[in-house]
Amino acid sequence: MSVRHRGHGKKDGHEHAKSSKQQSPGDSKQKKKKSRGPLGKLGSIFVLRGWRLSLLIGIVLGICAAIYYMQYTGKIGFDDISLNNFKISHRDLLPRSILEEFDAMTSSSSELSDSFEVGAHLAGEGYSAKHPVVLVPGVISTSLESWSVTGTEECPSKPHYRKRLWGSWYMIRTMFTDKKCWLQHLMLDNETGLDPPGIRLRAAQGMEAADFFMSGFWLWSKIIENLSALGYDTNNMSVAAYDWRLGFPDLERRDRYFSMLKRQIELNSLSSGQKTVLAGHSMGSQVIFYFFKWVEAEGFGDGGKSWVNDHIEAFVDISGSMLGTPKASSALLSGEMRDTVQLNSMAVYGLEKFFGRHERRDLALSFPGVAAMIPKGGDAVWGTLDSAPDDILTNGSLPSHGSYGKFLRFSETKSAFSEKNLTAAETTEYLLNLAPEWYRKRANSMFSHGLAKTRAEVTANENDPSKWVNPLEVALPNAPDLKIYCFYGVGKPTERAYTYQDSSNDTSTPLNVTMEYGSDDSVVSGEGDGTVSLLTHLMCHKWQEKDSKFNPAGSEVKIVEMLHQPDKFDLRGGAKTAEHVDILGRTELNELLLRVAAGHGAEISPRLESNLTKYAEKIDLGE
Ligand SMILES: *[C@@H]1O[C@H](CO)[C@@H](O)[C@H](O)[C@H]1NC(C)=O
Ligand SMILES: *[C@@H]1O[C@H](CO)[C@@H](O)[C@H](O)[C@H]1NC(C)=O
Ligand SMILES: *[C@@H]1O[C@H](CO)[C@@H](O)[C@H](O)[C@H]1NC(C)=O
Ligand SMILES: *[C@@H]1O[C@H](CO)[C@@H](O)[C@H](O)[C@H]1NC(C)=O
Ligand SMILES: *[C@@H]1O[C@H](CO)[C@@H](O)[C@H](O)[C@H]1NC(C)=O
Ligand SMILES: *[C@@H]1O[C@H](CO)[C@@H](O)[C@H](O)[C@H]1NC(C)=O
Ligand SMILES: *[C@@H]1O[C@H](CO)[C@@H](O)[C@H](O)[C@H]1NC(C)=O
Ligand SMILES: *[C@@H]1O[C@H](CO)[C@@H](O)[C@H](O)[C@H]1NC(C)=O
Repeated sequence: MSVRHRGHGKKDGHEHAKSSKQQSPGDSKQKKKKSRGPLGKLGSIFVLRGWRLSLLIGIVLGICAAIYYMQYTGKIGFDDISLNNFKISHRDLLPRSILEEFDAMTSSSSELSDSFEVGAHLAGEGYSAKHPVVLVPGVISTSLESWSVTGTEECPSKPHYRKRLWGSWYMIRTMFTDKKCWLQHLMLDNETGLDPPGIRLRAAQGMEAADFFMSGFWLWSKIIENLSALGYDTNNMSVAAYDWRLGFPDLERRDRYFSMLKRQIELNSLSSGQKTVLAGHSMGSQVIFYFFKWVEAEGFGDGGKSWVNDHIEAFVDISGSMLGTPKASSALLSGEMRDTVQLNSMAVYGLEKFFGRHERRDLALSFPGVAAMIPKGGDAVWGTLDSAPDDILTNGSLPSHGSYGKFLRFSETKSAFSEKNLTAAETTEYLLNLAPEWYRKRANSMFSHGLAKTRAEVTANENDPSKWVNPLEVALPNAPDLKIYCFYGVGKPTERAYTYQDSSNDTSTPLNVTMEYGSDDSVVSGEGDGTVSLLTHLMCHKWQEKDSKFNPAGSEVKIVEMLHQPDKFDLRGGAKTAEHVDILGRTELNELLLRVAAGHGAEISPRLESNLTKYAEKIDLGE
């Protein structure tokens, strides 16, 4: 939170902001794009985003490889790595295709022609800053810095002191030169779920924590800039950055995260006399929901029954992963990071080169935070083997890939592990059984995946912190004045089910199921924004229902679905993209968020583009 170290000198952070503005305009805007098909993915750990991040990382890895080579040949030292310098002086050394993609990416992400357009436009119409705003970033989008000076015997931390081991060029460089130590720093201890002895990584603070992921790759910067145009500054807008690797309870235990968030919001009320607007992206929305439960609970936030009503004006859920998403399951089960067989060769090369699937799975398992994104609600939401609420029937029959409810399919039975197909709920059990004991314990104690059928259960769960992450087991706070806005993208194919194979004759490893890449249905796509499945937004629709047991005070819920209409010539999709992360730069989203912040949320008219309302009708959440 910004109260802590507001904007202390952050080399990387500033480098980001600067370099994004230094691109020469029109450099390569016209350049033809490569195929926009799905490419590789550094992560479902990177639940963050689709292929463009991996493309970026692929490019970066390629560049690193070139630099590495050059260092050996004495042409360049590692300290010279600033991509801008690099671009100018060493362009000739890189393959053309990589340069073109890189140019296209940085130029598209630094268009300043429409600078402050949205904010300035609204300001011109008489809108101005009203409610203080707190932004809560999603999983993996917050940078992590190393603060330890000791480290371990093989991996001293000193050289990394106050460097960003996540979310900077330094991360790529360290991954590349010293993978083992990078992993050791990033992975959490399997016993405690916290940093291993000797190592300390903390979330970066201030706006720099989440404005850019790396130079040229913006996340929240457009929203921040547009808010500024409306009159916001660091006094009344902040980023509540958190260490996304941790389980939610540990965020409080280790960092006092929720206490600080509470304090910040109370301070906002004191200094401006206004309630705060809390905006979360992706997993950030889950963090906010958890916070709502935590802050009012006795013995936790101790805020009392009306804290949320008294302090929060609106909860803005941007592409939230409220009910989890299938991608989390496949990452935890087998370290899958890619969604199709057609892959960008560069990205795959880097990925495969640096991290084996085991390492990727181990990394995913060592982050309890990722478990928060395991699909919630079981068969009622994600379907049974024969039918799912979001199945699309033609003439009454299922498509050739079958029901989405058949979440994990085995085309061939080889052992007890592949003898039957599994639903999403069964897959969760299955992956917990395949995971080590410590993981099972942690996941069970922190993250519940069920569904409370009765009001009595919902009431009983109120005091059970392990349920607070699941809006299908606990209700919204009793806050009649709270407004909830759900803004999310639709119209981009999104992972929904998987075909796996059993390689059980490989007994050397516990990782004995993997995705079947040869199969047409290795990944079965459904609706969504490219990263999170449409069904995860079900909660917004259910909260809207009259007399919903999950919305006891009848807080007003407004849903605006945005159709994905990317600009072919912009790698980040341009003004009309609705992709999971790029949506943060969508003109409409910026405008909506600004309206809410300015206290004019009432003007927003709801809009639906998908059939989620119809699916929601089919989903029975009990009485
Ligand atoms: C934000 O802070 C600025 C001063 O830095 C002030 O002018 C403005 O009124 C504040 N806005 C709100 C909503 O508190
Ligand atoms: C936990 O991590 C330690 C150190 O990385 C490792 O030696 C140990 O085997 C792990 N324990 C389990 C149960 O996996
Ligand atoms: C659906 O049924 C109609 C009439 O029975 C038939 O003409 C049409 O080809 C069918 N469509 C598909 C996709 O099977
Ligand atoms: C699992 O699903 C696949 C693909 O739909 C199918 O071919 C296979 O027969 C199913 N397995 C079982 C045991 O039903
Ligand atoms: C199982 O072992 C056989 C013989 O070593 C090998 O040819 C085959 O590829 C293995 N199957 C899998 C799925 O690993
Ligand atoms: C598959 O993994 C499980 C879990 O580690 C292990 O118990 C089992 O022996 C493995 N099966 C085979 C056939 O390798
Ligand atoms: C304001 O938002 C619009 C729409 O997302 C974006 O195009 C523009 O770049 C933003 N302004 C700044 C200064 O980033
Ligand atoms: C919604 O359902 C209708 C009919 O059931 C269908 O024609 C339409 O294409 C669907 N829309 C989307 C976005 O799937």
